[in-house]
Amino acid sequence: MKIAMVGSGYVGLVSGACFADFGHDVVCIDKDQSKIDRLHQEIMPIYEPGLDALVDSNVKAGRLSFTTDLADGISGAQAIFIAVGTPSRRGDGHADLSYVYAVAQEIGDSLGHDAVVVTKSTVPVGTGDEVERIIRSSGTPHRVSVVSNPEFLREGAAIGDFKRPDRIVIGAEDDFGREVMSEVYRPLFLNESPILFVNRRSSELIKYAANAFLATKITFINEMADLCEKVGADVQDVSRGIGMDGRIGAKFLHAGPGYGGSCFPKDTLALLKTAEDYDSPTRIVEAVVKVNESRKRAMGRKVIDALGGAMVARGRKVALLGLTFKPNTDDMRDSPSIAIAQALADAGVQMAAYDPEGMEQARPLMPKVEMCESPYAAIEGADAVVIVTEWDAFRALDLDRVRSLVKAPLLVDLRNIYNPDDVRAKGFTYESVGRA
Ligand code: UGA
Repeated sequence: MKIAMVGSGYVGLVSGACFADFGHDVVCIDKDQSKIDRLHQEIMPIYEPGLDALVDSNVKAGRLSFTTDLADGISGAQAIFIAVGTPSRRGDGHADLSYVYAVAQEIGDSLGHDAVVVTKSTVPVGTGDEVERIIRSSGTPHRVSVVSNPEFLREGAAIGDFKRPDRIVIGAEDDFGREVMSEVYRPLFLNESPILFVNRRSSELIKYAANAFLATKITFINEMADLCEKVGADVQDVSRGIGMDGRIGAKFLHAGPGYGGSCFPKDTLALLKTAEDYDSPTRIVEAVVKVNESRKRAMGRKVIDALGGAMVARGRKVALLGLTFKPNTDDMRDSPSIAIAQALADAGVQMAAYDPEGMEQARPLMPKVEMCESPYAAIEGADAVVIVTEWDAFRALDLDRVRSLVKAPLLVDLRNIYNPDDVRAKGFTYESVGRA
């Protein structure tokens, strides 16, 4: 089956490469000539483990190609995916749908056959209706079904998530849409991945509801962590204790500096806007957004407190280990490290940092932070070492070496990746999240 993927960013490229790996014939389309040129040279525009090898093998097998020409790329494709960005609109937090609608217009203008048009971009409820209206208004004589098929890929684990999904959600309004989508996902269906067919609006809402629920879970455990610190409990134990209840579930109960990334912050805001537009407030999500936002900067204050307070912290040096919003990505969008670095800079703290993949993206976002070649270079002469992102490279630091390099042995572990007793036994003062 021929599939066209319009938008070769994170979601489009991962999905396109995985569909090709299933045996489909996939064309990834993007307006950005330099991105397509680089893809032709097999230079990935993003860092995602395993993606370059997947692209390479499918290009070599003749199942995956790239173009900037939309009309040519969608020609003969039974399924045309829209996977372009839906950033937060400047000023009001609504999802900016201008890219999605522009693609819908182009598809309508150049479609030469029957096709299913699939929105994979995260789009607010009702967007599929508008995509359908735009395509139909082009006067196309062909049968078109507009379907919603949200993605549930985590950065850093996207290929695994795509190939072994918890579920595939398809929002279709007719049999043509359902039949073509069944064919698209047949390899996964044979693998017994559950496919959930719902109407289009339900599918669009499932995506936002899922992300908002996960953001709520994280925020809940983060507030429990604060309470744990006050009452002398251990949030890791509390997480385990509640997570073993099948109704709650163990995942996404890891306390930390707050969620970031390109999805949760944007999607929770967009959900609030939809709720507002439909006069159906989602107060829990409102609280989650507020609590998470203030938490990031509060983590900067936590470091300042650990240094002995604002008076002492001025002029001290802090080493930040990890800058990306989570490990195995180079993505800095809405990363807690940005607010933490800002809070520390405001308090007159000097900073050096190391991140395995994110330093290039981080540099313009935190100009006062010195970027270093290795964790140990960042640590040298530091009054505090702060673990901001739980990269594997920081899980087994040589603590004796760290001790010999720092000015003062203070470790602030915002991801709870160390055992407090082990670190203290090495002579460090150790602060973590939600562990008294
Ligand atoms: C998230 C969802 O997990 C995906 O299912 C979804 O498809 C994606 O958004 C999207 O909408 O495109 P992602 O943003 O890549 O994926 O990253 P997550 O692994 O979900 O982490 C998000 C943030 O939550 C990170 O800052 C992470 O550090 C934080 N987090 C996660 C916690 O603080 N605690 C946890 O227990 C889990």
